[in-house]
Amino acid sequence: MTDLTPITFSETDIDQIAGHAGRLAVFLEPSGRLDVGARRINKLTKGALARLVEGARFANLKPGEVLSLTYPSGMAAEAVDVVHLPRRADVALARKAGAALAKLRSDSDLLLLAASTNRVADVAFGLVMRDYTFQDHKSAAKPRKGSVTVMCAKPDDTREAAAPMLAVAEGAFMTRDLTNAPANVLTTSAFAEQLVAMESLGLKVEVLDEDELASLGMRTLLSVGQGSDSPSKVVVMRWEGGAKDNAPLALVGKGVVFDTGGISLKPGAGMEDMTMDMGGAGVVSGVMRTLARRKAKANVVGLVGIVENMPSGNAIRPGDVVKSMKGDTVEIINTDAEGRLVLCDVMWYAQERFKPAAMIDLATLTGAVIIGLGHENAGVFSNDDALCNAFLKAAESEHEGAWRLPLGQGYDDQLKSRIADMKNVGGRPAGSITAAQFLKRFVKDETPWIHLDIAGVASVKSETTLAPQGATGWGVAALNRLVADRFEKG
Ligand code: BES
Ligand code: MN
Ligand code: ZN
Repeated sequence: MTDLTPITFSETDIDQIAGHAGRLAVFLEPSGRLDVGARRINKLTKGALARLVEGARFANLKPGEVLSLTYPSGMAAEAVDVVHLPRRADVALARKAGAALAKLRSDSDLLLLAASTNRVADVAFGLVMRDYTFQDHKSAAKPRKGSVTVMCAKPDDTREAAAPMLAVAEGAFMTRDLTNAPANVLTTSAFAEQLVAMESLGLKVEVLDEDELASLGMRTLLSVGQGSDSPSKVVVMRWEGGAKDNAPLALVGKGVVFDTGGISLKPGAGMEDMTMDMGGAGVVSGVMRTLARRKAKANVVGLVGIVENMPSGNAIRPGDVVKSMKGDTVEIINTDAEGRLVLCDVMWYAQERFKPAAMIDLATLTGAVIIGLGHENAGVFSNDDALCNAFLKAAESEHEGAWRLPLGQGYDDQLKSRIADMKNVGGRPAGSITAAQFLKRFVKDETPWIHLDIAGVASVKSETTLAPQGATGWGVAALNRLVADRFEKG
């Protein structure tokens, strides 16, 4: 897994400033008032910092942005990064500032002089989250070098505040690595193996193979994988950090390691992006890692359906009818609407086995959600306002875009089939909603449920605040917060 940048928190020692050979960062308010670290730098550089701060470039610097003083004389450093950060900065701004520092760091040791900075833990989180590159397949890649030292007012408190955030970063890095991985590397078996390896963190992990899935009756899931030489699997990860008799939260993820469309083959252009079609399962895996890392006091079970959607002489065809584990029959109109076929069986299994207090599924389910919401927001669908609002609030405080879309009988009617209980597609209108309606047919009345369509946010073509181009890890922070807010109380 891609390593997190090593980060340590210590008391401020301004005598280390002159000799620090990497980069230094100082935080300045709009007023430009220099704190103790900045004053030492200013003295060493014979007033260079003050001149920079008095100049027009600092005046034009937006909050969260950085200006660099390179190779300052009188110091060993290669640069002093001057961060514009108001004292009352909110979480978003603090994270943005950290991310800006990460982009400048390269392989240098970075010393943050944050003696009078608020929200230091959030700065650290932004820094670590943005300091990510996926270089598993770069032959020239060397191990990343350099570390980050944060000198701040209360290092013990800050370290403690940062610890759960770093657990989130670690989960998000796992999600990104999985989602970025090519399909010949992250095969269904390789994916399952990586999840089994999380047993060392205290998770209980089971892998259900095709024979077991067949005897459970998961025929719609198996139908998706039947054209592939890679075996379909369901992996169950349990984190039991809560009271013994507390019903768990169930997280269910779509793990299509590659989606060719099957016999309803996708066009060639852009098909390579479908390596990310296991993004939902990637988020579930990352959240489970985060919960284990921070030893969350909650019961959470993560279930992922891992399959590959390939055309072959053995693949499922349009027109075929398949019976789900629930017992409902599905007429396959389009083999490219495969995610819902995977999820419906795993969701049914999750409810039958765990009787969860709530269930949240995540999937790169529809191209239509990208048309509707772009790459800014995931589509949110729910049968339970209280749960849904709690999630939207968690997503908002983590700055992960999420927007609720409606469900309704009229949309469900689009799934009517002449020959079976339902079709697997509802036509072009409201494609994301009819996909959600399909899933809803596999949600029991008593199960509070959220469906997250993350096709637009799981992986992006241009960088976001906290992630470079590629997989974002969207959802790990929001779901972790939802667990903390709603499933760890009492
Ligand atoms: N994996 C795709 C959805 C997708 C599209 C994810 C773009 C990420 C980026 C999904 O399996 C799919 O193919 N959906 C079809 C559904 C249609 C056949 C009803 C789609 O969106 O075109
Ligand atoms: Mn598809
Ligand atoms: Zn798909």
